[in-house]
Amino acid sequence: MNGSTTWAILVAAGSGERLGADRPKAFIALGERVLLAESLERLDASAWIDAVVVAVPPAWEEAAIVLAEELVASKVAAVVPGGVTRAASVRAALVEIPDDALVVIVHDAARPLIDDAMIERVLGPLAEGYDGVVPGLPLADTVKRVERGLVVETLDRSALVAVQTPQAFTATALRSAYAGPDPAGATDCASFVEARGGRIRVVAGDTRLLKITTGADLALVESWLGEPPPG
Ligand code: C5P
Repeated sequence: MNGSTTWAILVAAGSGERLGADRPKAFIALGERVLLAESLERLDASAWIDAVVVAVPPAWEEAAIVLAEELVASKVAAVVPGGVTRAASVRAALVEIPDDALVVIVHDAARPLIDDAMIERVLGPLAEGYDGVVPGLPLADTVKRVERGLVVETLDRSALVAVQTPQAFTATALRSAYAGPDPAGATDCASFVEARGGRIRVVAGDTRLLKITTGADLALVESWLGEPPPG
């Protein structure tokens, strides 16, 4: 795949309420920089990625453009205001992706430690005919389905994975999945593609792609900054 064919959408428009900060999550400090800087710089530096669209909270577009300039992130093609939901932010970013894009990788800015090995891992199976590829981690805890405080079912843990980003899709599959209404309970991009009958492959996830939700997550990811990825 040559030319501007692999695009990345970096969704960074969440509020991050649970962190209790005075600004959106993407703009809180992670080490010496803002959180968004980490994933933006890593995506921009990746040889697998041709161009990047960033979705940020409305009124934070200028801050993101300045950040991209500071990082000399030359692959940033557009910064868009995100929506009320993650899905709305993905939709807003998709509008900026040209028709000739072949592959779209969607990544949460809240998972700063994306690396090239993971990008390569999610891109690989697309060539084998899958519509999408997601990283997944086995579950350590027992998982139960609960209704009104009562256990309805204990699920077979060995058949379950906790799904992360980056998620890679053919541009056609992702576009058509987001052209329709939001499927019930869809919290990631793959669930949109699944709802349309798309085939999604799961590859090994990475514990360091932890999604920063609480202050404790932030401290943990901060402690991993600058460390080489586990071999
Ligand atoms: O809130 P959630 O855990 O789903 O957020 C995952 C990612 O989606 C975060 O990087 C967040 O910035 C992004 N997001 C977004 N627009 C929203 C909600 C979340 O871009 N309205």
